[in-house]
Order: sequence, then C-alpha cells, then structure tokens
Amino acid sequence: MKTIDELLHEGVEGKRVFVRADLNVPLDGTTITDDGRIRAVVPTVKALADAGARVVVASHLGRPKGAPDPAFSLAPAAARLGELLGADVAFATDTVGDSATGTVAGLGNGQVAVLENLRFNAGETSKDDAERGAFADRLAALADLYVGDGFGAVHRKHASVHDLPARLPHAAGYLIANEVGVLKKLTEDVKRPYVVALGGAKVSDKLGVIDHLLERADRILIGGGMAYTFLKAQGHEVGISLLQEDQIPAVQEYLARAKEHGVEFVLPVDVLVSPEFPDLKTKAPANPTTVAADAIPADEEGLDIGPETRKLYASKLADAATVFWNGPMGVFEHPDYAEGTKAVAQALVDSPAFTVVGGGDSAAAVRTLGFDENAFGHISTGGGASLEYLEGKTLPGLAALED
Ligand code: 3PG
Repeated sequence: MKTIDELLHEGVEGKRVFVRADLNVPLDGTTITDDGRIRAVVPTVKALADAGARVVVASHLGRPKGAPDPAFSLAPAAARLGELLGADVAFATDTVGDSATGTVAGLGNGQVAVLENLRFNAGETSKDDAERGAFADRLAALADLYVGDGFGAVHRKHASVHDLPARLPHAAGYLIANEVGVLKKLTEDVKRPYVVALGGAKVSDKLGVIDHLLERADRILIGGGMAYTFLKAQGHEVGISLLQEDQIPAVQEYLARAKEHGVEFVLPVDVLVSPEFPDLKTKAPANPTTVAADAIPADEEGLDIGPETRKLYASKLADAATVFWNGPMGVFEHPDYAEGTKAVAQALVDSPAFTVVGGGDSAAAVRTLGFDENAFGHISTGGGASLEYLEGKTLPGLAALED
C-alpha cells in the first residue's frame, strides 16, 4: 500500500488531492458532540496543505437517502476542520455540481475545501456498479490524486471508497496507515491473555466477529443490549429487554463452541432494570433497580450491567495483555446507565495491557464520559470497519488502496 509520505516525496504542490475522510460525527442539531473523527484526519490534511496541495476533503455523514437533506449537511464538520487547521476551509454546497467545481477551481496552493455529504448523491452507495462508477467519474474530474483516510468507511463498497481510487493515482493517509498497523497487532502474534469486551445493541452486528474470535481470544465479556439475547439463550427470562429471538440458535452454538475451544464467555450476573427507557434529552432521573441477571421482571428491561458485573468484568480485564473493546455496556448516554460503560473504560485505563477501543459508540462514550484518550493504547475511528477487519474480511476501501 503506497503511503502519503511517498506522495509527498514525489511532490504534490499545485495538485488537487481528493482526501476521502470519515467526518461522520455525532450531531445534536448542528452541534458536533464528539469531533474525534475530524481531529483524526487533520495530520493528513495538514501535511498535504503544507506541501502546497489543493486539498479536497470529502465524506459521508449519517444515512441520507441519496438526495440533499439539510439535517445531514457537512457544513458544521467543515467549520470545525477549519478551526482545527487554523485556516479558512471553503465549503461546496454540493458534491459534483457547480458549487463543487467552482470551489475546487478557486483553491490556491495549500488551501482546503470540503464537499457536501457524498451520500446526497445516490451514486455513492448504489449497488449498481455502473451508477457508482458514473459518480466516481465525476468525483475523479475534481482531482489529480486520491488519498484514502476515511478508515470508518473502508468496509463500504461505495463510490468514493472503492471506485474512485481505481481512477486516480492513490495512497493511504496517516489515519488509515495507523489504524491498520494497530489492528494488525490484534490479528498477528497477539499477546495473551487476549480479552475482548463486546457490547452494543444488536447481537447480529457482532456475530461475525464472535465467530472469528472463538478461535483467537482467551476470554469474551458480553454487555449492552446484546447481552439479553445471550441470557435468553441460557434459558433466562429477560422481560421487555432488547432481544433478537432469531439469533438465539447462533448464540447457543457459540456458547457451545466456546466451551470446546476453552474460551471463557462471561455474561452479566446482575443488571439495572426499569419499566421505561430513559429520556435521553432531559436526562430526568430514571431510578433503576438492580436485579440478578436471572431474575429480570417480566415488565422491565435491562439497561446497564449491574454493580457485581462491573466488578466481575474489571477483574476479568485486569490480567489481560491485550484488550479489544467494542460497544457500550448500557445506555451510557443517560447518567443512571453509564456506570457499566465507565467501569469497562476504567478497567482499560488501569490495565497495563495493549488496549484498543473499537470505534463508533464506544469511542464516543470514552470521550463524552470524560476519559483521557491518551490513557488507551488506541481508539479506533472505525466501529463496523474495525470489527470487519478483525473478522478477517477483505475491506473494499483497503483493497482499493493496495492495487
Ligand atoms: C461509521 O459510523 O461506522 C462509519 O462512518 C460508516 O457509516 P455507515 O455505517 O453509515 O456506513
């Protein structure tokens, strides 16, 4: 994989460089609640701008339906990028239309522009190769070189991720190079014990990685909404908790295979329950009760791991040499259900192990709960991307940079 350093060495002055970033940041209206992904691409953008390139940054945000939708505008992200760079950043109000063409044509050497959300164009995510290709052709007309640095999107076979690099000389940016370097350490020659903590809402999102880890990890801790499908698979009633009934057979099979392979599977022993989902806007007190994991009342739902489970998980993480964590342990956005996620984050901070936080919600949780990012070995910008990497899948956005 060619790196940005090689491009810089060859010289980029006056060249239009398309940087595919992942500026898919959480927003509250137009306020960015976690700018981690924007900060993560700054070194690449800055290095190119300092070398005199005309930098065209592009990304998706959220999942608009292939047409402009102001709720998903990248304007706030472009403004934040400008603040972080300490420079004016131009903003094109479309992706390949008059605004984009004019904005890019107006860039001087060392200047930066951000295009509007790529997913405002149906060609970006199309399953049809020709439609995607046609959009990639129009994007290619805006640039001379391509730098892939949107690690969070490399698992997507999208026009700007997969098709565009085939149309331009390309290289990997610093973020992608760094992410791949770290994730390699979890797949090649991993230091043991290797402990994995998985949370989040859906078991179905994690099946692939669990399947893969059953051959590789020493211990797997389960929390978050997906824990209730595991508890149900063990024969416990889970009340009105999140449940994926159709995944129960797969989960039972995994539990059996874990036993065979000597992989320790650890499930919650107690949980915080309530008859109601908390109000995440007002954050009004939720007054949950703590119950044993096998005694969830029929009309209540589990919303976080309980105090005994917090202690148990901290002890199961304490002797690890390598830790990978993906997915919050509860509804951490509400203070009454944040303790489980905090406990796991704290256990990682306290651990001398090589610790990796796998993107998305868990990365945002770490930062919004006030942890120092530097206390972790690595916080990935990719949620789905890091999981698919660990599953051993070929990621379209990385494969495209290899050629
Ligand atoms: C993410 O948030 O994981 C990436 O930005 C990819 O977004 P997507 O799941 O909407 O493709």
